[in-house]
Amino acid sequence: MTMVKRFACVVGARPNFVKMAPILRALADFEGIETVLIHTGQHYDKNLSDVFFDELQIRKPDVFLGVGSGSHAKQTSDVMVAIEGILGGYGKAGKPIDRIVVVGDVNSTMAAAIAAAKCNVPVAHVEAGLRSLDRTMPEEINRIITDSISDLLFVSEPVGVLNLRREGHDESEIHLVGNVMIDTLFSQLERAKQRDTLYRFGLEPKRYGVITLHRPSNVDDPKVLKNLMEVFIRLSSEIPFIFPIHPRTLARLKEFGLHSYILDAKANIQFVDPLGYLDFLCLTAQPMVIVTDSGGLQEESTALRIPCLTLRDNTERPITCDLGTSTLIGNSATLLQQQLESVKNGNYKVGKIPELWDGLASERIANILCR
Ligand code: UD1
Repeated sequence: MTMVKRFACVVGARPNFVKMAPILRALADFEGIETVLIHTGQHYDKNLSDVFFDELQIRKPDVFLGVGSGSHAKQTSDVMVAIEGILGGYGKAGKPIDRIVVVGDVNSTMAAAIAAAKCNVPVAHVEAGLRSLDRTMPEEINRIITDSISDLLFVSEPVGVLNLRREGHDESEIHLVGNVMIDTLFSQLERAKQRDTLYRFGLEPKRYGVITLHRPSNVDDPKVLKNLMEVFIRLSSEIPFIFPIHPRTLARLKEFGLHSYILDAKANIQFVDPLGYLDFLCLTAQPMVIVTDSGGLQEESTALRIPCLTLRDNTERPITCDLGTSTLIGNSATLLQQQLESVKNGNYKVGKIPELWDGLASERIANILCR
């Protein structure tokens, strides 16, 4: 009888689904490997969760924890308790989990890793080693803690290797494999471009800008959010913007009275609900510019070679600035204006696609996990 190895693959929030999809597919090719897909329920809205499962053909989770929203401590502890129960349950049923695989840097990632490590289940972290060196970001704490208790560290860009070495990880634990998010992007790009998304929103290729904003540092302070919105309002007469809006950002805009302010200004900014993967990729593959505070979108725009103005003071993904198409502009209205001008005038950098961002990262990961 062949021994089955069982990997619990944990997802919780939108970017996790995009990263885990190709890993599950790559692991399915290995005989003797069984995956248990666990969805924590951190994201539960149809358009933050279900649509990704449908479009990326991710199978229905084997386990749904239904944790939902809450404070960081509540969300983290709820995921920990639930994961501990699941790991114990599989053990009692004679189907022990041999390893847990977590991706990215959301609360579910860290919580699942801690619970597993405490049950002596080894942790593999995909997207390890990234550091913004900004500990006010919840994701930075999640990254540091997750890496510190993982014994397989899959890294997407070279600086991650240096960070992990500096933190004392053994060389044998660190694997530079490339970027799983880009695996999904390349596999879906043609399908996405065939959609009628631009037509539906009345946009023309290369003649619009995409905005996404959700980080507390940009959306939780009314002054900061208002300043950014003023720039978009001003520039929207030259660059029509589309703004798929995260629920927390919409809530803040309404709370600060900015939503009606923008509508009253009759700016050329379309607020739309968060989009599914394919519609969003159709939009981000063809704009003049992307303005964002998302980590994933910095990478996606680099792979798509689209100018990306990143509304952050730092980034854990420096290759997107050094080699790719991203520029950090903090939340400075002046820099935003300047960089948009340079994009419009065709003076913006072109950028290169980093090595190993080739659509094959998940295969490399599966090979290492299963050997
Ligand atoms: C989370 C991740 C962030 C990631 C983002 C991607 C953490 C700390 N943050 O941020 O790194 O970039 O996901 O989208 O894990 N909400 C809904 N419906 C949902 C989920 C959330 O309306 O399905 C609302 C709730 O009001 C909730 C708020 O959004 O309180 C924040 O959700 P949460 O999962 O805590 O963090 P995100 O801001 O989505």
